[in-house]
This record gives sequence, C-alpha cells and structure tokens, in this order.
Amino acid sequence: MPTVHFVDTDGHHVTAVAASGASVMQTALDASISGIVGECGGYGACGTCHVFVDDEWAAKVEDPDDGEQIMLDLTHVPRRAQSRLACQIAVTPELDGLVVHLPESQR
Ligand code: FES
Repeated sequence: MPTVHFVDTDGHHVTAVAASGASVMQTALDASISGIVGECGGYGACGTCHVFVDDEWAAKVEDPDDGEQIMLDLTHVPRRAQSRLACQIAVTPELDGLVVHLPESQR
C-alpha cells in the first residue's frame, strides 16, 4: 500500500498508509492528520483540503483540472505554485512516498 508523508509548518511529518483507491485527503482523514478538513467530502467544492506538493514530487502529480484551478483561487489558504486540493490527488502506486506540505490553517 502506498504511503503519503504530511509535513506541517513546523517541519514535523506524519506518514500515513493510503487505502486502495483513496485520495490524499481521505488518507489524511483516516490518519487523523490535523490541517486537512475535507468539509465537502472530496467533491472539490470546499477548498479545505489545500496542500502543497513537495517540489521533488511536482512532476509526478498530474496538473489540476479546470474546476480545481478555480477552487484553488478561492481557498482561504493563499495559492502557491504547487497548490493542490488533496481530494483530487489519487494515491496510486506511482505516488508511493508522496510528500505534501500542510498549510498553517484551512480556515
Ligand atoms: Fe472539499 Fe477537497 S474536500 S475541496
């Protein structure tokens, strides 16, 4: 099972194992990662699962689609180059070991 590493703003990190077919957001919720809210349940409609993909993983993660691009401009957390909605990233075997950085707050 692939793992995802969540790094908070203090540099602490937690490694979580993703269930088959899970998104990064669901993986965070399953592991009780603080900093990911997931208010809309993964429909890309709330922006409370904003993360920053680590630079070393950026090329391996697909670009956001048009709907996600719009939501990323509307989230509480200011958008950065590697911003993604965690609910829109499926944890595939190719993303085993993915590193994402958490914002200070989602609200
Ligand atoms: Fe709502 Fe990701 S959980 S946008």
